[in-house]
Amino acid sequence: MTTLTSIWPLHGLTLATPRLALRPIADEHIPAAVEAALGGIHDAGKSPFSSPWAEASPEELGPNMARWYWRCRAESTPDSWTLLLGVWHYGEFVGCQDIGAKEFATLKTVSTGSWLKKSAQGQGLGKEMRAAVVLYAFDWLGAEVAESEAAVWNSSSLGVSGSLGYELNGLHRHSWGGIVRDVQHVRVTPALLKRPDWVLRVSGHEAAAGLLGARTEGPLPGVPENGPSAGA
Ligand SMILES: CC(C)(COP(=O)(O)OP(=O)(O)OC[C@H]1O[C@@H](n2cnc3c(N)ncnc32)[C@H](O)[C@@H]1OP(=O)(O)O)[C@@H](O)C(=O)NCCC(=O)NCCS
Repeated sequence: MTTLTSIWPLHGLTLATPRLALRPIADEHIPAAVEAALGGIHDAGKSPFSSPWAEASPEELGPNMARWYWRCRAESTPDSWTLLLGVWHYGEFVGCQDIGAKEFATLKTVSTGSWLKKSAQGQGLGKEMRAAVVLYAFDWLGAEVAESEAAVWNSSSLGVSGSLGYELNGLHRHSWGGIVRDVQHVRVTPALLKRPDWVLRVSGHEAAAGLLGARTEGPLPGVPENGPSAGA
């Protein structure tokens, strides 16, 4: 039978960690994402993002977020994709973990970005969700490098990177909405990654990976497959 998931298999992908489930944001999840963002992500006037999207008025935030989810989905091809994963903490939508790549088949490099609503920050969830996508990229998609970046003052984002073994990859001057920002780039390889002591559980990989231009087989040799985990 033809279903939306058979047409767009990314909708069937789930990454599960001990406390979290990460799934591509579908239309029915957009209200929960908007509500989480409306609850607050960062202090006023201190946007950690290259575009200060979370500072839009409540009237604009929802349509802007919906446009962003639709645009990333619509523009994703095996050659250039951005996967916006909703993050559920025991059933509650708490944030978003992005992973994207260009020419993945050649470069085997992914980049990530994320946010959590304020009330979910500082409990190790940011590290757990970043670890989930990096493990998926390295162990299942066959990535060789994962990159990220954060404003130099963003200790929590750089804290996540540092605790997972990322190394510094240069200080860059970026224009964020016309304002110059010093941005710290970081990168990690499978050899550098400080692996968590839990096993990532993945479902829906084979069909999804085809849309990501990546290997569709199960995890690389030596990687435990869907082992025991507390469950989200
Ligand atoms: C960035 C973000 C996703 C991190 O998630 P989090 O759940 O708050 O962070 P965690 O609790 O997982 O912390 C992970 C590590 O960073 C460290 N850390 C967290 N906040 C820190 C801070 N303010 N200063 C120094 N280290 C910090 C923790 O000690 C932990 O290290 P450890 O495992 O060695 O103990 C989250 O804070 C957030 O959404 N912030 C607002 C949006 C944002 O900045 N997004 C990133 C844009 S680049």
